Amino acid sequence: MSHIKKSTSLFDWFDQRLNIDKFWKVMVSEYWIPKNINFLWAMGVILLTLFILLFVTGLLLVMYYKPDAVVAFDSVNKTIMQEVEYGWLWRHIHAVAASVIFLILYIHTFTAVYYRSYKNGREMIWVSGILLFLIFSAEAFSGYMLPWGQMSYWAATVITQLFGGIPVIGEAVVEWIRGDYAVSDPTLTRFFMLHVCLLPVVIIAVIALHFYALRFPHVNNLDGEEIDFELEADKYLKGNMKEAKVIPFWPGFLAKDFMYVCIFMIFFFYLVGFQFNFAMDPINFDPASHLKTPPHIYPEWYFLWQYEILRGFFFDVGPLKAADIGLMAFAFSGVSLIFIPWLDRSSVVAPAHKNRAYFIWFWVLMIVLIALTIYGKLPADGVTFGISNTYIGFVLSISYIALLLVFLPLITIAERKRG
Ligand code: HEM
Repeated sequence: MSHIKKSTSLFDWFDQRLNIDKFWKVMVSEYWIPKNINFLWAMGVILLTLFILLFVTGLLLVMYYKPDAVVAFDSVNKTIMQEVEYGWLWRHIHAVAASVIFLILYIHTFTAVYYRSYKNGREMIWVSGILLFLIFSAEAFSGYMLPWGQMSYWAATVITQLFGGIPVIGEAVVEWIRGDYAVSDPTLTRFFMLHVCLLPVVIIAVIALHFYALRFPHVNNLDGEEIDFELEADKYLKGNMKEAKVIPFWPGFLAKDFMYVCIFMIFFFYLVGFQFNFAMDPINFDPASHLKTPPHIYPEWYFLWQYEILRGFFFDVGPLKAADIGLMAFAFSGVSLIFIPWLDRSSVVAPAHKNRAYFIWFWVLMIVLIALTIYGKLPADGVTFGISNTYIGFVLSISYIALLLVFLPLITIAERKRG
């Protein structure tokens, strides 16, 4: 049993039991961040802010939302949008934040790829980050179902049907996920449970892991310089703050981040006030109907690159059907980024512009991902520049896989050999 003395204040009472003082030092006031970083390092705190906004507006929405296939559509489009005071505002904030969080997730992820902040001890930051991306994808998909409009219904039908591609047990799995032969009321209630209960809890736990994983390897910096954090912290604590290469997480780093969060909020509330339509598909303002299939079913913008990879394979290879190859490529695209720390075969941590081949690789990857996103929205049977969209989608999908599995190892092995 620890040594408990008579407490001198309320803080002291808690401190003796929870060691708040030590915890605050380790995780906040003596958690050192390099000075040599820029606005891209504020994306993590912007992500956290967006998640809090989603959580709070979600709590307000769930007070009036009804997870029942008969009334779900009206509970959103009539009760929340027209009858509840400011219901429309909470819904717009929630929808815009759900879309914008993916933009920031992509910027945050590819900043780490550009600066190669995923290796030499930072692997757990990276892995927990990719887990967050995957869980956010499930959270966004389950949330998209809740208004029970036409896109909710048909996107759920298409995505759940994908599991039918699993050999032998596929159809049973689809039925198990849907809770019925077709997407219907039980599907809505289980996705509601995932969206408002299970997934948010998992997200909070993984965010905690992500923050904890950052604590020991520390964040990277603009030059990939390996900083002696103890030495630099010592300089800072001895009052030599100008010369020290580090600042504490609080107040130095967070105060600057708050400024970036405020600038971001101006942009965010401009979108909420004036451009909210981009986050809401017009087809989803028609109630779900299993009798009327929309002519062109596509996911939200942030899933389009993966959707295009799913559609990208249009020919059978031996016993493998085109749809099965597409499904395997899609499954790979979902988890592919998690392997980057091990596909990068060099131990160099430096920004992409310090290695020409890596720099070109990075920007080709960006172009391929953007092109996949654009083609994911176009009808598969269309034609661009005289070439069928299907062929272009195939070339782009193969390029994405080759960039990760072939070019990244080759470029980084060459870098390692150069020494
Ligand atoms: C809601 C989700 C997320 C939150 C709240 C979050 C939060 C943060 C914060 C606060 C930082 C430190 C400062 C900064 O670099 O921004 C950070 C760093 C980092 N995050 Fe995330 N993150 C999230 C998702 C992701 C995702 C999807 C990835 C992709 C793999 C990722 C990978 C990383 C990496 C590699 C670093 C270290 C950067 C460096 O060392 O310079 N994070 N994250």
